[in-house]
Amino acid sequence: MSNVFTLEHVSKTFSRAGESIHALDDVSLDIPAGSFYGIVGTSGAGKSTLLRLLNLHDKPTAGSIRFHDTALADLQGPALRAYLSKVATVFQHFNLFHGKTVAENIELPLAVRGVSRAIRRSKAAELIELVGLQGKERAYPSQLSGGQTQRVGIARALVADAEVLLCDEATSALDSDTTMVVLDLLLRLKRQLNLTIVLITHSWHVVRYAADIVTLVQKGRAVETGAVRDLLHDADSWLGRQYCPRRIWARHPRMVGFATN
Ligand SMILES: Nc1ncnc2c1ncn2[C@@H]1O[C@H](COP(=O)(O)OP(=O)(O)OP(=O)(O)O)[C@@H](O)[C@H]1O
Ligand SMILES: [Mg+2]
Repeated sequence: MSNVFTLEHVSKTFSRAGESIHALDDVSLDIPAGSFYGIVGTSGAGKSTLLRLLNLHDKPTAGSIRFHDTALADLQGPALRAYLSKVATVFQHFNLFHGKTVAENIELPLAVRGVSRAIRRSKAAELIELVGLQGKERAYPSQLSGGQTQRVGIARALVADAEVLLCDEATSALDSDTTMVVLDLLLRLKRQLNLTIVLITHSWHVVRYAADIVTLVQKGRAVETGAVRDLLHDADSWLGRQYCPRRIWARHPRMVGFATN
């Protein structure tokens, strides 16, 4: 399987008040095309920083990132614009425009690209149906539930024919039932639209439910990567320890209680 993203020795250092913060420290990862890739870690681990390098909101201090065969650092002009429509992001706090309706919010990325009104409308209608928001076209974000708001964010992210969906804590503002529904939606969209999904989360439950591959990030380092189905049965892995604490407790009493949210 080919990779959508290849990260080689990526580091990102911030300076704050004369101090260096190593938000990412020598991270190398392969994100295969068609995968549902989970990036899990506690607060401050560097997850959002990683995502911001992928969506070009920021640049690495060292190392390289490739999208298929193209180095992100080399993108410019039309290739850069094409990249930005192929790689879409759903943010934690949705970032919807409150003065615009659901349909207008979803059309916005097309409007910005100068797409005609008729095409915008038909594309938005298609996405509204895909995410199950029929009947809410004219509603405003304040009139929606958290789960519905999330659907608008997902539809908007996908309206310009994205190939990769990056989700930063896309589910953490939701209760657990709504989280499942949103994850089911992402899994279905991934199949229907042939997407690669990179999902950032604090939660190993989310990883176990939805992801094929996971990387655990701790203090800016990618400390464990593997297929979720293998790691779940590997008692020496972080994911395996979360999955079956009782069994592990008998063997490693001090490992229980670590990041089980
Ligand atoms: N623009 C910035 N300037 C300075 N430091 C930053 C900046 N962005 C992130 N950091 C620092 O980098 C580290 C990683 O932050 P990041 O936001 O990537 O963590 P995270 O894993 O997404 O955390 P959370 O789960 O809380 O969202 C933190 O120590 C953070 O304070
Ligand atoms: Mg974050």
